[in-house]
Amino acid sequence: MTFINARHISKTFNGKNNAGPTLAIADMSLDIREKEFIAVIGPSGCGKSTFLLMVAGLETPTSGDLTIEGKPVNGPDHQRAIVFQEFLLFPWKTVKGNIEFGPRLNRVKKETCDAMSRDLIRLVGLEGFENCFPHELSGGMKQRVAIARALANKPKVLLMDEPFGALDALTRESMQLELQKIWQKARCTVLFVTHSITEAVFLADRVVVMGSRPGYVKKILTIDLERPRTRKMFTSENFRHYERVLKESIWEEDGPEEMVPVQEKRSA
Ligand SMILES: Nc1ncnc2c1ncn2[C@@H]1O[C@H](COP(=O)(O)OP(=O)(O)OP(=O)(O)O)[C@@H](O)[C@H]1O
Ligand SMILES: [Mg+2]
Repeated sequence: MTFINARHISKTFNGKNNAGPTLAIADMSLDIREKEFIAVIGPSGCGKSTFLLMVAGLETPTSGDLTIEGKPVNGPDHQRAIVFQEFLLFPWKTVKGNIEFGPRLNRVKKETCDAMSRDLIRLVGLEGFENCFPHELSGGMKQRVAIARALANKPKVLLMDEPFGALDALTRESMQLELQKIWQKARCTVLFVTHSITEAVFLADRVVVMGSRPGYVKKILTIDLERPRTRKMFTSENFRHYERVLKESIWEEDGPEEMVPVQEKRSA
């Protein structure tokens, strides 16, 4: 049995005011194994966030079955944590306070919270910043706090919606390396939505390409690169091959004409 099973799921949003309903996802099926790192890519509006929110239990499929460990997803659960592009930290709480928020709410003992936040702060490399407030941190540091906070409830599934989208290119690269380390230590299943093909290839065991109008699974590509992945791999032949395959799969959206290289088009 696979861990997360989406079976022929569809999602229609009822339009507000005079807008008609939107069929965001139609007949989407996907199986995710436990502890797998899955990246989801696809054009804007193809339903990536909608799918992630359904796995989170924050949106409900209109039809089809969505199960985790064989049980239907019925609303949010602390075993599934989300990290968004916007850091969504509590500005009035320190790094430590933000990380401990969930466990404190669940009445976990203070000593346990202290030990847990100490471990997580070390895991995300924020030692020395425990008592800083979010406005005192850089974007990359804020996102580390958001990841640590998501991990504080020991989730089985980490759902990430363009988590590094707001970061500059260099910070983004180092966060990708960090996330790989964190994932290998935390040993949870990750569903990671991104607009970056390179990021998807670098991080994922499998990359899911979604097509649009309405959203569906267009292609699933297994990334057979050894772990841990390193910066050097970015320029390897295999890495480039995977990037090319994924780009071509996304370009297909624009129709076959656009796939023809410019020079060939001219001579035709
Ligand atoms: N709450 C909502 N109410 C109505 N329509 C929605 C809602 N959420 C999403 N949609 C529609 O569903 C479709 C899929 O949206 P979604 O946000 O999942 O796309 P996405 O792939 O995450 O896009 P992006 O890459 O731009 O973030 C879009 O047509 C969007 O307008
Ligand atoms: Mg989105």
